Amino acid sequence: MNILLIGSGGREHAIAWKLSQSPKLSKLYILPGNPGTAALGENITDISIDDHDAVAAFCREKHVDLVIVGPESPLAAGIVDSLSAAGIRCFGPRMEAARIESSKSFAKQFMLQHGIPTARYAVFKNHTEAVHYLEQVDYPVVIKASGLAAGKGVILPETKAETLAALEMVMIKRHFGAAGDEVVIEERLSGSEVSLMAFTDGRTVVPMLPAQDHKRLLDGDHGPNTGGMGAYAPAPACSPERVKEIFERVLQPTVDGLREKGALFVGVLYAGLMLTASGPQVLEFNCRFGDPETEAVLPLLETDLVRIAEACADGHLADVEIRWKSGAAVCVMLASEGYPGKLVYGKLVRGSRDKFEHGTCFHAGTRQVGGKIVTAGGRVLGVTAWDESLEAAVKRVYSVVDKISFEGMQFRRDIARRAFAKSAYAEAGVSIEAGARTVELLKSAVQATYSPAVLAGIGSFGGLFDAAAIKGMRSPVLVASTDGVGTKVKLAAAAGRYRSIGHDIVNHCINDILVQGARPLFFLDYFATSKLTPEITADVVTGIAEACTEAGISLLGGETAEMPGVYADGEFDVAGTIVGVVERGRIRPEPDLGPGDVILGLASSGPHTNGYSLIRKVFEGVPLETVFPELGIPLADALLIPHRSYLNVLYPHLKLVKALAHLTGGGFIENIPRVLPAGVDAVIRADSWQVPALFRLIQQRGGISVEEMYRVFKMGVGMVVIVDKKYVKTFQRSIPEETWVIGELVAGSRKVILK
Ligand code: AMP
Ligand code: GLY
Repeated sequence: MNILLIGSGGREHAIAWKLSQSPKLSKLYILPGNPGTAALGENITDISIDDHDAVAAFCREKHVDLVIVGPESPLAAGIVDSLSAAGIRCFGPRMEAARIESSKSFAKQFMLQHGIPTARYAVFKNHTEAVHYLEQVDYPVVIKASGLAAGKGVILPETKAETLAALEMVMIKRHFGAAGDEVVIEERLSGSEVSLMAFTDGRTVVPMLPAQDHKRLLDGDHGPNTGGMGAYAPAPACSPERVKEIFERVLQPTVDGLREKGALFVGVLYAGLMLTASGPQVLEFNCRFGDPETEAVLPLLETDLVRIAEACADGHLADVEIRWKSGAAVCVMLASEGYPGKLVYGKLVRGSRDKFEHGTCFHAGTRQVGGKIVTAGGRVLGVTAWDESLEAAVKRVYSVVDKISFEGMQFRRDIARRAFAKSAYAEAGVSIEAGARTVELLKSAVQATYSPAVLAGIGSFGGLFDAAAIKGMRSPVLVASTDGVGTKVKLAAAAGRYRSIGHDIVNHCINDILVQGARPLFFLDYFATSKLTPEITADVVTGIAEACTEAGISLLGGETAEMPGVYADGEFDVAGTIVGVVERGRIRPEPDLGPGDVILGLASSGPHTNGYSLIRKVFEGVPLETVFPELGIPLADALLIPHRSYLNVLYPHLKLVKALAHLTGGGFIENIPRVLPAGVDAVIRADSWQVPALFRLIQQRGGISVEEMYRVFKMGVGMVVIVDKKYVKTFQRSIPEETWVIGELVAGSRKVILK
């Protein structure tokens, strides 16, 4: 069989290399090819790819049985339509189906119509409308100038303020010129990026192995974007189950949807995906083999590529069983000086070889001059090796890379490292992968809490909070507090419930500073555990973010620590720091607190965050799902009810309040004296409110004295408020919930008298 392959890069060398292994191949022509393909077939350099008639005439003359198209531009220009009309079989989509790559707006609309997961987006020509839209969006976004700067004009703002600034820069200041006439606001996705290509005949779809490209020029994903500095396959980030999911949710519906539109897609459908916490999402489609993914994927293909391509063209791919080799392959791109900018060409390449043990050098941008190879493009060579493991393949590929040289040669040292570099840490019990995954999972919840005052949050060393936010105050005093949740975390771990613990820590801290009259500005959390389980950690931090959102606080930063051996298996601890602000003249308690003032109580939601060591002792051995008749709900529910915040009910009415005491560890007995002046006692009438059943149950089961109960627990009162006698009625009417008069201040010696 005679085949014509169109293209001239590393991808085409890899395709030619694979085709040439087929017993079915008689003659391979490559249009125009490169010095690498010249060794595998005949390069045709006297015909232009754009001249479809000339290509068709060539095929007839040489009895070409199948044309395989490498790059996207001839596909978008309709070469398959022209050749098919001339009766020539092709592996590649027609123009209409190639739009899935050539028109981003078509692809987006198509995905929307067919329910294929992709980032939410909207397009704007008008700045005011774009700003209005941003006001309604509650997820992080990217801003793209949709015109000619496409690709380069992508901004990834971290905060709402940055987002607004980016919009202004593109639409008003016209940083990208006319390209910014139209702006795309797209949801910012986070996760691992993978490329999954599939063979298709327009009906049957067979995914290849998942691969990962390395788009940035420099190690560690730094520097400018390139055409791809290397790739490896299979990508462990995309498990076989994920591949199946992408096949079912993305690849098959795309091919079906195109066919139903009358655009049969034949060839390779490439999906560029982000594996997010909520599943794979499509970043882009390509209508052809990826470059450099192909260089890493095809060496692992066991089945004859000629058979596959022919079956796709003839519509019976279902009859071919496609098999893959075990092990992994990696391709490292060697690039010219100046790449991806202004290039320096024509440098002598030393040490390149067509073949080495388990490897080959695919030519991308080379030229043959005399008997020598010189550089002739940005990406010069794709050095590729395969082996039983990715680690072995990487070792092999760099041992060859180190023997190749040309002046100004650039390449990355860390291709595929993200797939296995974690192993050394993982062996020590710390999983980097889990750490990164955790951050991805919690990122959007954290970012949703940001107010415009947050200038830098997740990802920066320190959080930045714009103090201009408090500039309107006369004499602002910052109030800060750090706290933990105590042994309630042990109960949460035992019950497998984590989110409510996030609410506990935030609300506890809010109450800590509310009693001094402060409103919170921002919060930072610390989560430590024996072993990071991304979902659990994200659940705790999501709870933290939820509580912050409810209170209007920004979650400015945090730390997640994995400390095997420090915490027992499955256990964790959580702590937080809050910073708030109060006018100097409004700090509580007020100095004139004295006999005659009235003590009121606000209900607690449960034990909040104190007394849990005693609670755990009292209920030792009792299954958490037990429903005590006096509680009517499972024990776990009763004990894990989160600490409530009093911010929203009390803060608007603080002017009526002289002092507040948050009944945390130490209960009534120890907390109320914290706000009493010398010479004053607090009388508390224990019968003035209904003690909730849970506390009575604890008292009975534990045989605990009344004195101790009031020292340890809130007994149903979470916040104590001291009000001037004449404002009691006004206060009670103002607060949108029931409050109880539970006692008064008398002369004494700064203690609590329980009656
Ligand atoms: P790390 O790996 O801990 O340095 O975290 C990477 C980024 O994620 C940092 O910018 C942190 O601010 C953020 N981050 C990590 N853990 C948390 C968390 N528990 N809560 C909020 N942000 C976090
Ligand atoms: N590697 C990305 C592409 O082929 O478009």
